[in-house]
Amino acid sequence: MTHQNQRVLITAAASGIGLVMADAFTAAGARVYICDADASALDSALQSRPHLRGMLCDVAQEAQVRDLFAQATAHLGGMDVLVSNAGVSGPTANVEDMAFADWQRCIAVNLDSVFLCAHFAAPIFRAQGSGSIVNMSSTAGLFGLPQRAPYTAAKWAIRGLTKALAQELGPAGVRVNCICPGSVSGDRMDRVIAAQAVATGATLDAVREELTRTVSLRTFVSAQDIANMALFVTSSAGARISGQELVVDGHTETF
Ligand SMILES: NC(=O)c1ccc[n+]([C@@H]2O[C@H](COP(=O)([O-])OP(=O)(O)OC[C@H]3O[C@@H](n4cnc5c(N)ncnc54)[C@H](O)[C@@H]3O)[C@@H](O)[C@H]2O)c1
Repeated sequence: MTHQNQRVLITAAASGIGLVMADAFTAAGARVYICDADASALDSALQSRPHLRGMLCDVAQEAQVRDLFAQATAHLGGMDVLVSNAGVSGPTANVEDMAFADWQRCIAVNLDSVFLCAHFAAPIFRAQGSGSIVNMSSTAGLFGLPQRAPYTAAKWAIRGLTKALAQELGPAGVRVNCICPGSVSGDRMDRVIAAQAVATGATLDAVREELTRTVSLRTFVSAQDIANMALFVTSSAGARISGQELVVDGHTETF
């Protein structure tokens, strides 16, 4: 599973799962470029990791993503792997209480970003006859999540987009897969649990217990578990894997 000299772009990687993936790809020998919309998180990630390069970019904005690809390919000297990792949990509310603007922003960051990154990566990968794209879906893209309509819709849509892109780009030697993480321990999950507790009136412990109740291994997963899957599927060990939804969740059959 070596990634020696692989050129890797990971979006939204100044913190959370993206940053763990950036460290994992670096440890596997890759040269990694990251972006993030949070300037201070980006500064601190880059300062603590002198080998990493990156830039500020809101991946829901076409012009910024165009610039990201220009900067990343200039720095890396091309690109072999794109990880479209950006996603926000979006509003937690019943549909009748949800503002349209909140729906739109959640769809833009989670879904438009995957389209935009693929749009700018495809010509690069087609021209070299190789490349691997990993899109970040979720188990929310396999089941319904009440009061999380835009997030759920975007994560389902990423699965469809992944399959369409795998069919489009496969003949050019380009692979496209998505990863569906279950609940990942960390800041974001803590925020999701807090929002769900407020929306439902349940305690934090009750929300947390409910989230693991349907997981066969009765556990959240770690960001490293997700990074391991990204490393595997983009390596030569995953050379014949494309168009797949790779679920890393401790096994959840249904909610
Ligand atoms: N954490 C989980 O439990 C979990 C579960 C399933 C799927 N996922 C998915 O995995 C991915 C990463 O999740 P995470 O938990 O690391 O997220 P996170 O909330 O910790 O955010 C990671 C980074 O994304 C950046 N970001 C947010 N909006 C951005 C934008 N418009 N442009 C660029 N950067 C932006 C943030 O500044 C932050 O640094 C997301 O797509 C998420 O939906 C996460």
